[in-house]
Amino acid sequence: MSYGGGVTTARDRLDRATADLEPPLAVVDLDAFDRNAADLVRRAAGRPIRVASKSVRCRYLLERALRKPGFAGVMSYALPEALWLHRSWADTDLADTDILVAYPTTDHSALRALAADPGARRVVSIMVDSVAHLDLVDAALGADHPEIRVCVELDVSWRPVRGSGKVHIGARRSPVFTPEQAAGLAAAIVARPGFRLVGVMGYEGQIAGMGDNPGNPVRGAVLRWVQRGSARELVGRRVDAVRAVSALAPLEFVNGGGTGSIEITRADPSVTEIAAGSGLIGPRLFDHYTRFAPDPAVLFAAPVVRRPAPGVATLFSGGYLASGPADRARLPQPYLPDGLRLLSLEGAGEVQTPVTGAAADALKVGDRVWLRHAKAGELAERFTAYHVIEGDQVTSIVPTYRGEGRSFG
Ligand SMILES: Cc1ncc(COP(=O)(O)O)c(C=O)c1O
Repeated sequence: MSYGGGVTTARDRLDRATADLEPPLAVVDLDAFDRNAADLVRRAAGRPIRVASKSVRCRYLLERALRKPGFAGVMSYALPEALWLHRSWADTDLADTDILVAYPTTDHSALRALAADPGARRVVSIMVDSVAHLDLVDAALGADHPEIRVCVELDVSWRPVRGSGKVHIGARRSPVFTPEQAAGLAAAIVARPGFRLVGVMGYEGQIAGMGDNPGNPVRGAVLRWVQRGSARELVGRRVDAVRAVSALAPLEFVNGGGTGSIEITRADPSVTEIAAGSGLIGPRLFDHYTRFAPDPAVLFAAPVVRRPAPGVATLFSGGYLASGPADRARLPQPYLPDGLRLLSLEGAGEVQTPVTGAAADALKVGDRVWLRHAKAGELAERFTAYHVIEGDQVTSIVPTYRGEGRSFG
């Protein structure tokens, strides 16, 4: 792209598009978002993608993805969120969107709201991994409650030492690990009035959530070895578990994977759909994969407010750390101009973030620095709106969940 004959950098484009706006501000580059969406669909090779809303947290972007061919359904992270989305889509083309709440709920009032809403009961399913979850629903809703759609979560972590749960590689999620345990829980659900078993889900975070190209060749080789071993073990176990559960209840979906594992998850014949959200946004933690490279679609800008010393420029605010184990990878990353980094002793701060590096001395008070969040959805908890950039202009301003006064956890 060029302005007045000159070559325009990515930084110029962002600066010019937002020149009239006051930072701190957050933008979504819609061209990058659309390219990322197309790449997820290409990678899924025919499996529908269920959008992981926790990684988006902005209705405008969720809806944009859902209206694209290749996407079907929402993976919600909280029952109140699922009910809110469903209600917001009444009388629209998204009214029948299937919404899977992928994490167990103990929210009695949301369960009562679900039970009282026949439309929501048709499309919303909740996650269970034990009889305790069924008991909680019964306690919240009382005897003879209407049918609640449920999905069984399978633990798809890797236990490399056969027969032992002591070595556990993956997230601590469900106690349901073996096909026999899955069948046992399915039988308990089918035998209980007031529940309908519609799906099985398993998220192989040890494959999807860990970049296999961390920059250190030895660590990269170990990660790839773990991921290959885990994938090999899982394919047989998940197929057997799905077969055992399907013998008891006709399943509508078997959900697996995430942005980081699409190619591996789609190779499992029992998986009917793949969950993904981060791949739409392209945060920094997704820079370390060999199989794909999403474009950074959501960025934030912070203004340079002081120059405390040569080689250092200090930005206002910026300390938007990501969830997960507390390490440097959770910090935001100065992105544009190129050649900036955080100070190790100060990191990214509550009210100020100093940056240093080759580009620092060219920065003046009032300039802006563009940064990337480490994760996909959490920036939406910091900003009330995303400025939508198309080409070299801001074409609209869309609220995040926070901007709509919503916070689901
Ligand atoms: C159940 C489940 N599925 C899928 C995903 C993958 O989401 P993403 O594509 O945003 O990495 C996650 C992420 O934590 C998850 O918890």
